[in-house]
Amino acid sequence: VVLAVNKIDLVAYDRGVFDRIVADYAVFAASLGFEQITAIPVSGLNGDNVTAPSLNTPWYDGPTLLGHLEAVEVDEAVAAAPFRLPVQWVARPNLDFRGFAGMISAGEVRPGDRVRVLPSGRTSTVARVVTYDGDLALAGTGQSITLTLADEIDISRGDLIVADISPAEVADRFDTTLVWMDEAALQPGRPYALKIGARTVSARLAEPSARIDVNTGARAPARTLHLNEIGQVEIALDQPIGFDPYDANRDTGGFILIDRITNATAAAGMLRRPVRASGDLHWQAIDVTREARAGLMGQRPAVVWFTGLSGAGKSTIANLVEKKLHAQGRHTFLLDGDNVRHGLNKDLAFSDADREENIRRVTEVARLMADAGLVVLVSFISPFKADRAAARARMEPGEFIEVFVDAPLDVAEARDPKGLYRKARTGELANFTGVDSPYEAPEAAELRLDTSVLDAASAAEQVVTLLRARGVFATTGDSADYTI
Ligand code: ADX
Repeated sequence: VVLAVNKIDLVAYDRGVFDRIVADYAVFAASLGFEQITAIPVSGLNGDNVTAPSLNTPWYDGPTLLGHLEAVEVDEAVAAAPFRLPVQWVARPNLDFRGFAGMISAGEVRPGDRVRVLPSGRTSTVARVVTYDGDLALAGTGQSITLTLADEIDISRGDLIVADISPAEVADRFDTTLVWMDEAALQPGRPYALKIGARTVSARLAEPSARIDVNTGARAPARTLHLNEIGQVEIALDQPIGFDPYDANRDTGGFILIDRITNATAAAGMLRRPVRASGDLHWQAIDVTREARAGLMGQRPAVVWFTGLSGAGKSTIANLVEKKLHAQGRHTFLLDGDNVRHGLNKDLAFSDADREENIRRVTEVARLMADAGLVVLVSFISPFKADRAAARARMEPGEFIEVFVDAPLDVAEARDPKGLYRKARTGELANFTGVDSPYEAPEAAELRLDTSVLDAASAAEQVVTLLRARGVFATTGDSADYTI
């Protein structure tokens, strides 16, 4: 920390004033845990001690502000810390080479080191440390490298490669400190994305547990955070990440929050500590993979997500698709909004927040079923783009197939199979999608079915054709095609 005491010209370069400010600051900073504070008297107006030592402060013989910033050693602690490499890029120039590229954010690495990949928890040994200028016997903090490993394990962009003897932690819920940077105040329930290293995940924010006064460090109760406010907020992610507490590593413990609706940077944050239901929870690596399970059934996991207004024809089409696939010996499961709302989600109604939770839960169930190797058909109104985007992000790349069952509102309303539009119009039913609750139509669904012109059978046929075209099913009937 540099304490630049500005406008020293306004107190006639008085050493006494400077010393008093430095002493006061030291008292204030005592609780903040800074290892070292460099105090410099400066005048921005006249440039005193900014780039050149000032003749007006003969009593000061320390560095100038720029001189200090250019020379200060900031990485000592990080260099001695255990190895951390956030994976920026998976390099695959040819079949024989698979490397994991990034900049070392802490520690050192050598060929032969045991490493662990987070969040999966898989381990391997470093084979080579490759750089543009050839292989290295040792690489350290701040160097950009590509690692190759002795074993073929799954690693993607955004993963964290760490020293096996001193791994980072894995969690999906955290106590954090946020610096709010957006004109729009923190709104629990609004969709945010959390970006840490090369990984971006969906995040849900709780109400702040405290707002922190930047002048006194005092904590006060708060329901939200406004522009430039700092607070303590619990954040839940839709998937676990590898991390270090910010105090240990700024790269693997620092993040930004992005408002998913406006794409604005909403906050900068620090991960303090994981929040866990009970004890230490670790992600367990499982050796029988989803691909292996699906391979036994001669298929690949897929999630076909039907979205559209009530009465658009989602359930009818999804049901027909499942019948066709079942008749062809495919392994499927149909998750339907009305049915799931009788069991798992019977505690949820139709407010925006309840719909979001409804879709979040069904996303998790669909994912488990895809993990089991199934072709999962999901039929929910799912009116909000952000929730569907979060569902897509939760599945493996290419696995999520969005089908927009598109009937104009007047067509769906004329059908009114359950008499609900009528009730909504007469005010007996509130928050009805299309009437007094919004439906955000997909812009880039994999398939759009206009059911005002298409009958259900041909709509279903289009879905089955799309699944085939995307290689979801083994064509030869030989299940070995998809075992790995
Ligand atoms: S979602 O919006 O949360 O995705 P979901 O698909 O689970 O909705 O449930 C929609 C079904 O609930 C409709 O088919 C309808 O039968 C019933 N329903 C009851 N009240 C409402 C309402 N206010 N808005 C929409 N659907 C409703």
